[in-house]
Amino acid sequence: MTQAKIVEVGPRDGLQNEAGVTLEQRIQLVDALSETGLKEIEAGSFVSPRWVPQMADADRLFARIQRKAGVRYSALTPNLKGLESALAAGVDGVAVFGAASESFSQRNINCSVAESLERFQPVMAAARDADVPVRGYVSCVLGCPYEGEIPVARVAEVAQTLYQMGCYEISLGDTIGVGTPAKARAMVMAVAERVPISALALHFHDTYGQALANLLACLELGVTTFDSAVAGLGGCPYAAGASGNLATEDLVYMLEGMGVETGVNLDALVRAGEQICHGLNKSPTSRVAQAWLAK
Ligand code: HMG
Ligand code: MG
Repeated sequence: MTQAKIVEVGPRDGLQNEAGVTLEQRIQLVDALSETGLKEIEAGSFVSPRWVPQMADADRLFARIQRKAGVRYSALTPNLKGLESALAAGVDGVAVFGAASESFSQRNINCSVAESLERFQPVMAAARDADVPVRGYVSCVLGCPYEGEIPVARVAEVAQTLYQMGCYEISLGDTIGVGTPAKARAMVMAVAERVPISALALHFHDTYGQALANLLACLELGVTTFDSAVAGLGGCPYAAGASGNLATEDLVYMLEGMGVETGVNLDALVRAGEQICHGLNKSPTSRVAQAWLAK
């Protein structure tokens, strides 16, 4: 592999769990990330503001960000209501999000896995009519906060259904960061029997410090698309104990060190992470960012 695609999820996954984050801070983060060379930025969610107040006013966010040519700005849309708002806001792409765990699905989007897949059908159809690409997430691919181990066959089944429904890419979420490299590989191999590996993305949280190791193990299988969040921000409000995503700085540093091009300017990325962390009164968890700032 000589090139990787990074999907920056910091403004969405990174901030959806941050109490007190302001719309201004969210806009500033998207704009700062736009200047780093990242080509895909998940900027927000069109979900219920009662469920996730941090992601409220996504329409105002999309109206105010400085869109950079060549960058795709996307958002989560759990249902038709979310999709309609997202289209009105002029998103470049949307994502539906399902799970391989029944309990997580209930807590996260208030319906069963089967109901969620049915709910996504009209979303897919309306997005297709609007010519907006749809990404599909599968959560809990390496474990569930409520059910523990999840069979890889279940992950593969949900991934295949989303792919057959028309999602151009399936992002495999280790929502609570419990995976280890051999398990991550086995899971990706099982999914790759049903979905082309070129259509898979890895979305690993770093709760147990395994995200980069897991990613490397799967990169060796041929996956080239990776989700990460600047400064290692992140966590899901419906996954107890879930902490940050793999830090984009750590991912960029590793890939570039392996000779894989990311197109991302690490210094600009570290500064973007520093700015949002300062605003949130925290420090970046990214080891690379810490080392870079200490230089
Ligand atoms: P519900 O309560 O079952 O929905 O929620 P409902 O259709 O019965 O509607 C209830 C109320 O919500 C109504 O308002 C609707 O209008 C409103 P009311 O009449 O009571 O005032 N509503 C909406 N408002 C704005 N936008 C919408 C929308 N839909 C309904 N799209 C729902 C179902 C899915 C809406 C809810 O459960 C929800 O918003 N959940 C949020 C889930 C979420 O954002 N989770 C975090 C992201 S997923 C994640 O982090 C994992 C991931 O990173 C991968 C990984 O790590 O594994 C992707
Ligand atoms: Mg996530």
